[in-house]
Amino acid sequence: MKLSSFSIAFVLFFLASVAATAFADVKSLRGTIDVPTTNSAPQLEGVIRDKENVARTFEEQPPVIPHESTDEKYAINLRENKCLDCHMKQPGKDEAKSVEMGESHFIDRNGKKHDSPVGARYFCDQCHVPQVDAPPLVGTTFQSVAAK
Ligand code: HEC
Ligand code: HEC
Repeated sequence: MKLSSFSIAFVLFFLASVAATAFADVKSLRGTIDVPTTNSAPQLEGVIRDKENVARTFEEQPPVIPHESTDEKYAINLRENKCLDCHMKQPGKDEAKSVEMGESHFIDRNGKKHDSPVGARYFCDQCHVPQVDAPPLVGTTFQSVAAK
């Protein structure tokens, strides 16, 4: 059986209108933004810089970083770890430039003490993160130990 071009056009038109109706019912999870629209990313917030140390909010919390910690500024890689310049005693000095890492950072899983931070503590930003001054996205009833 040969389909006439009229029947093909008719079928295509039918399919297109079904698709259009189905699409009209789809609601974007992004609220008022239509499905096909690309929304712009929120503006990047600047991190809080060199303020006082931030109070800890629960016991054993890795303190948050009260200064910039971008990769360009303080690189942490196989060759260097800039964080150590200030947070570890340098050879020939009595004290670190800034608050020194706790002893926990030098003890390995077998309880052995080392002269430099152990592997599990080498990538500081696995646990320590900087903060931005942004309003919380959702509410919370969490109570900080600092507030008690
Ligand atoms: C140029 C020196 C310098 C470098 C490099 C540096 N810091 Fe700091 N850091 C400071 C100063 C200054 C403070 C805040 C004041 C103080 O000494 O208590 C601070 C505070 C902190 C604190 C808070 C300590 C607390 O008890 O609340 C953390 C955590 C921290 N830094 C982590 C890092 C990490 C991780 C890096 C690497 C990405 C880094 N720092 C690199 C100077 C530095
Ligand atoms: C596995 C998680 C982890 C990693 C990785 C880590 N820390 Fe910490 N850090 C902690 C915790 C938890 C504390 C708080 C308790 C303590 O002192 O051990 C802390 C405390 C600190 C403090 C505050 C010490 C004080 O007495 O106030 C500094 C400074 C610090 N870390 C720097 C660093 C630096 C620099 C690195 C990378 C070389 C690093 N940390 C890697 C978890 C971590």
